[in-house]
Amino acid sequence: MDSTATTTPFSTLIRTASHEQHTEAESSTFMGDMLGGRLGVDAYARYTEQLWFVYRALEDGAQALREDPVAGPFIQPELMRTAELERDLTHLRGGEWREGLEPLPATAAYAARVAECAREWPAGYIAHHYTRYLGDLSGGQIIRGTAEKTWGFERKGDGVRFYVFEQIPNPAAFKREYRELLDAVDADELEKQRIIEECKRAFALNTAVFRELGEVFPLSA
Ligand code: HEM
Repeated sequence: MDSTATTTPFSTLIRTASHEQHTEAESSTFMGDMLGGRLGVDAYARYTEQLWFVYRALEDGAQALREDPVAGPFIQPELMRTAELERDLTHLRGGEWREGLEPLPATAAYAARVAECAREWPAGYIAHHYTRYLGDLSGGQIIRGTAEKTWGFERKGDGVRFYVFEQIPNPAAFKREYRELLDAVDADELEKQRIIEECKRAFALNTAVFRELGEVFPLSA
């Protein structure tokens, strides 16, 4: 057996394994254009709508997993984002934001995979949980700052509440504890390897959403 697999903490393995995909997601054309201030607020709103579909799948699924021995410890109310996304969307789109709202095909595929893991494979759900929430607590803060500056949202106010974790005053400490949860995950080496593969898939699903958003908002048009 590969000795690094048994001695390296799982939180390190999962971070290292997804590093390449992280760079790819981070440097997608859509993200670059949006964070470079080259897109209008409509693009940001459309992106926020996609997040709403993804977080509904994550958080609808979470309820049934609260008592699950593997995924249960990860389900923490202070992470939940659906209510914040709905407030942001009301601000961005108005009270009727739900009317006629459809996910992009890539978003529908992403949400369907999250829901499938929540239903059938709790350990796989952890991969999706990690990819979104730990990212939101990290790079999400950079996105918030840029969105506030670019489109004039009130600091930590409506429009960017998704990025504000009111009940997590110390994100660095929270992330440390989250990594401890990952390190203690109740799974054997093979299952951990599968979780890592699912994490890579989660990143690819995010990148696919960015790609489709980039097609909807091409700079050259
Ligand atoms: C422009 C967009 C992005 C920026 C600027 C960004 C930036 C960052 C930064 C600076 C960290 C390191 C935080 C630390 O060391 O504690 C981080 C971590 C992370 N990001 Fe991103 N990120 C972006 C997009 C994404 C996307 C699209 C995803 C996936 C959906 C993602 C998922 C993650 C995850 C899971 C971590 C935690 C890694 C770990 O410590 O285990 N990020 N991000």
